[in-house]
This record gives sequence, structure tokens and C-alpha cells, in this order.
Amino acid sequence: MSEQMIPRADRNLAMELVRATEAAAIAAARYMGMGKKDAGDQAAVDAMRTFLKTVEMRGTVIIGEGEKDQAPMLFNGEQVGNGEGPEVDVAVDPVEGTTLLAEGRPNSITSIAVADKGSMWDPGNSFYMNKIVVEAEAKSAIDITKSPSSNLYNIAEALGRNVEDLTVFVLDKPRHMSLIEEIRQTGARITLHAEGDVIGALMAAVPGTGVDVLMGVGGTPEGVIAAAAVKALGGGMQCMRAPQRVEEKRQLKQDGVQLKEVLTLDTLIRSNNTFFAATGITPSSFLDGVHFDRRGGVTTESIVLRSLTGSIRYIKGVHRLNRTHDIGGNIGTTPAHVAMEIIAPD
Ligand code: FBP
Repeated sequence: MSEQMIPRADRNLAMELVRATEAAAIAAARYMGMGKKDAGDQAAVDAMRTFLKTVEMRGTVIIGEGEKDQAPMLFNGEQVGNGEGPEVDVAVDPVEGTTLLAEGRPNSITSIAVADKGSMWDPGNSFYMNKIVVEAEAKSAIDITKSPSSNLYNIAEALGRNVEDLTVFVLDKPRHMSLIEEIRQTGARITLHAEGDVIGALMAAVPGTGVDVLMGVGGTPEGVIAAAAVKALGGGMQCMRAPQRVEEKRQLKQDGVQLKEVLTLDTLIRSNNTFFAATGITPSSFLDGVHFDRRGGVTTESIVLRSLTGSIRYIKGVHRLNRTHDIGGNIGTTPAHVAMEIIAPD
């Protein structure tokens, strides 16, 4: 084969992003159950920021989760990456489920999404939106302008199942009382979670996780991050802004925003070139959490997605703290080393 004919493997940015989510997860995991929401978030932000510097990209943070709760964040507009390579939009959620982490409950994860520059939707003053997410086979069955029950019947039909056999992921919030009641009326099963609708969206879009549908109102930034993953998985997602606070409603009205606008996957992420990586912090049925073992080993579990190829990778990371290595003069540059250095007590 001549050199010209040898196919050239292209780059999967998500394979580099996962080192940043691993580092963030390891740093945050030290705070599991310690009741320190912000400290856990900050540790994840610092570790993620450090590792993003190694990724060959010229990234602009479009979604720097944290604004809604005034949490420490990789702020909107911040430049990330090593300043070379493609220009991209970046969405980060260093800790999704900060209270889950602080209380040592399942389902907190760390995630990053990247898409072509200019393609990520900027939520502006929208902090909450209504979401519906399903796997690929049911994507034509969803219509967020219709009632939850009619969506569930259509989804069941598309999946060739009885509605009673569907499981719907819903955030356990007072605002969802009537939604929960309506789902119950259809006979579908519900799994309620205090927090974490990015992991809920992932579970709904990946077939065979035990969750078939995500429904209900959650954070807008989380919706954009989830959209990058759902797009890569070929799933279906629709959203509508659903302001929950007086000030949010007032701002959106002032901005002339149409609350009835349906935000499709293509509105949320215009490009078909998306990368997504997430790592479990606390254990869940979908991604295991971070484990520290007595010999200085740290294990992580991550999911890595790329839309162009549709590849899905589950990566089990085994990080060795007692093995420093020297690459180009840098000692100890694994996610675990960086995470430990960042959170090492003074
Ligand atoms: P944090 O990571 O900021 O704690 O958000 C967790 C979360 O449950 C998200 O998964 C969800 O989208 C959002 O908060 C819902 O917001 P609220 O708790 O204000 O209803």
C-alpha cells in the first residue's frame, strides 16, 4: 500500500477530555459525605482546569455550570485548552449533584462536552427548562408540546413495549407533583432522584440502563451538556424553557424570549461534531464511583462519546499514586497525581 493510501486515524478529542473528568472526579471524591458542597466543587474545578490545559484545542467555555447557585466554576468565556488545534465551544459540569456528593449519595458525576465553535446554545438568562430524553429508537415519538402521558404512550409504541414496562427518571422536586401523578396514571414506573438530570439523560439515551425516559424540569446548563451526549448517542431530546424564579421570569420577558419555543437537539447543539466525557464520583448503577485502595491505587469509571462515529466507550481507569513518571521533565502527571496535589491539605 502506498503511503497515500494508508488511512489516517483521526483524533477523538473526548479521549483526552476524559483525563480531565477523571482528575475532577478523583479530586471531588475526597469530599464524599463530608458535607462540604462548595469545597468538593472547587476541588473538581481546579483539577479539571489543570487537565484541560493539556488538551489540544482552543476552547471557549459557553456553559460554566455554577452560575445559578453561585458555585465556583470554570466561568463563561474562559479560554481552555493548550491554545492550539481546533476552535471549539466547551460545556463543563465539574460536579453534577453537589449535594449528592456532600451527603455521600449515589449519582454524582463530572462531565465535559465539546462541540464545533459557535454551535452551542447559550442559555442567556434561562436557568431552568423542561426536558424529555429517550433512546434513538423512540426519538421520533417525543413531542414536548404534548402531555407527558401522550408522550409515554407514543414512546412505548415506538419501543414495542407496554407503557407499564417503561421506567421514567424524574427529579424529586415539589414542582413535579402533577407530573409524577400523571406518569403514575399511565402505569409507567418512576425512579425519583434528588438531583442529577445529566446522568438521568444519559441513562435514558443509552439503551438497557433500566431508565427509558427522562422527564421534568432541571437546570438549563445541564440540558446543554446532556444534549451533546444525547446527540452522540443518536437519542432524542426536546426542551422548553421553564423559569422557576420570579427574577428569571422577569428577565426572560424583558429579553423577549418565547417560552413556548421548542428547543430541539439541533437548537441546543447545532453541530454534528460533539464530544462528551463523564466520570462517576459517587457510585451509581450507571457509572461506578471513585475508589481509593490501600496500595495508592485509585479507580475510576467513565463514559466517552463521539457523535461523528457514534462510538461509546466505558473506560475503567486504574491510577497509581505511588508511581511517579517523568515525561518531558514533568513528574507525576496522571489525573490522580494532579487531583491529589490539588486537594492535599496545607
Ligand atoms: P448541582 O450539580 O449544581 O448541584 O445541580 C444538580 C441538579 O440536580 C441538576 O442535575 C439539575 O439539572 C438541577 O440541579 C436542578 O436544579 P434545582 O435543584 O434548583 O431544582
